Formats: sequence, structure tokens, C-alpha cells
Amino acid sequence: MVNEYEIKKQICEIGKRIYDNGMVASNDGNISVKLNDHEFLCTPTGVSKGFMTPEYICKVDENGRVLQANPGFKPSSEIKMHMRVYKERPDVNAVVHAHPIYATSFAIAGIPLTQPIMPEAVIALGCVPIAEYGTPSTEEIPDAVSKHVQYFDAVLLENHGALSYSDSLLAAYHKMESLEFYARLLYNAKMLGGPKELSKQQVERLYEIRRQFGMKGRHPADLCPNAKEGKPSCHSCGGSCGGNCTCGNDDADLIAEITKKVMAQLGK
Ligand code: 13P
Repeated sequence: MVNEYEIKKQICEIGKRIYDNGMVASNDGNISVKLNDHEFLCTPTGVSKGFMTPEYICKVDENGRVLQANPGFKPSSEIKMHMRVYKERPDVNAVVHAHPIYATSFAIAGIPLTQPIMPEAVIALGCVPIAEYGTPSTEEIPDAVSKHVQYFDAVLLENHGALSYSDSLLAAYHKMESLEFYARLLYNAKMLGGPKELSKQQVERLYEIRRQFGMKGRHPADLCPNAKEGKPSCHSCGGSCGGNCTCGNDDADLIAEITKKVMAQLGK
């Protein structure tokens, strides 16, 4: 088992990558890692995540209350958002929040990343919904993220930024990198007249590859409510995780339930 000091060093290293890659400006962004069910390490509020040393890192409990922090450091103002992800996804061991330029531009424009444009993005992320706007540091953002957290490993935060989470810190960071790369490609393709999307069959083959690899985490290939019903999932259900798509929203289960009842009444 990696010791706590090593994990603090890893958080600093990922903070530096996020800063150096232009995924945050100034003191933006935050990172956390789960040590066990009652102890979590997190970045402090109000510091540049590009220049942290292990002494900066705070320890909190599952409610975000401080267990240990060196003088002058307080946990991230967004700790509630991190804690909600851990609470609702016991498989998650690390959470990364950043403001990457392209992903955040889509979040500001209110456009979820749903167009299947390249195999890696389809396999790694499926699509990326937008959690509705909430005031930072309040329960509004955790509540908005909660609607998507069971279905996806990355979400855009409306008019704010992006959030990714996974079973390791490196994997959570990689999801943030993949999300931003996907957003950047989609933006450029739109500038060039619009992307040529992968077909439903091509997407389904990629989903199948993901399933065969047994890749961890949540993804529309496995979890789209439509897929549960044996109907086409996510990319192929026509749309948008934020708009009229039934992926990852409460309506989907309701629609599935009603369909089931109607079919039962029809004796099918
Ligand atoms: P903290 O420095 O409090 O973590 O906040 C940074 C941020 O990006 C808030 O969204």
C-alpha cells in the first residue's frame, strides 16, 4: 500500500500537470484522493495547483470536515462536490475538477459532448453530459452532478468547468485529459464545417470492444437506461445527454417503466 506522503506527492504532481497543461488558471481546480471510507486527502482552497508541495494537502472525513491541515491551509471550497461523488460511487478513489478551455467553452455554451467523432473518445468516455449550473461551494453542484454520476465518469459543469473521477488518481486525470482532447477536436471539426460522425454500427462495435476489454467505470456502453431495455444506447439514441436524450436522466427509467407496463397490458 502506497503511503500517505507518496499520495500527497502524487496529488502535487497531478496539480502541476493540470496547471502546466492550461486546464486551470490562477488558483482554480481541485483534486482529492480517498484513503479509506473515513479519510480523504484534498487540495487546499485558494492556491495554485501548479506549485503545491505535500505540506499543502489537507485531510478530511467523509463529510468534508477537517481531520488535518497545516496552518494557513483549508480544504477546497468544492469539497462537498468531491464527497458526493465518493458517497454515490464507492468504486471511485480519486476526483479531479478543472476548467479546461475547450470543455469549459462547451459547458458555457450549454452543449454536451455527445457526437461520436473518434474511437478513443467513444471508448473512454462515451459521451459527456452537462450537470446544470450551481453556485460553487453550495450543495447545488453536488445535487446537479448526482443526476449523472451513476452513468458517466466525467461531466461538464454548466458555465463552470469539468469533473472527472475514477478508481485511481492517474485514471481520473487521464479522463480529464481525454475529455478536453475530445472537446478540442469537436470544436475544431465544427470550425471546419462540422464533424463526420461515426455511424451507429461503428459506435456499437467500439462499445463492444469496451465491454470485451472489461473496462472499469461507468459508460453508456454498459449503463445507458436504453441499453438496459435492449434499445439503442446513448450515441445512437439520437442525441444529447443534456437535451432530449434519455441517457442518464430520471425520465429514462420512467419511460422504460411505462413502456414495460403498456407492453404488459398489450400482452407482449
Ligand atoms: P478551491 O481553490 O477552493 O479548490 O476552488 C477552485 C475552483 O476552481 C472552484 O471551482
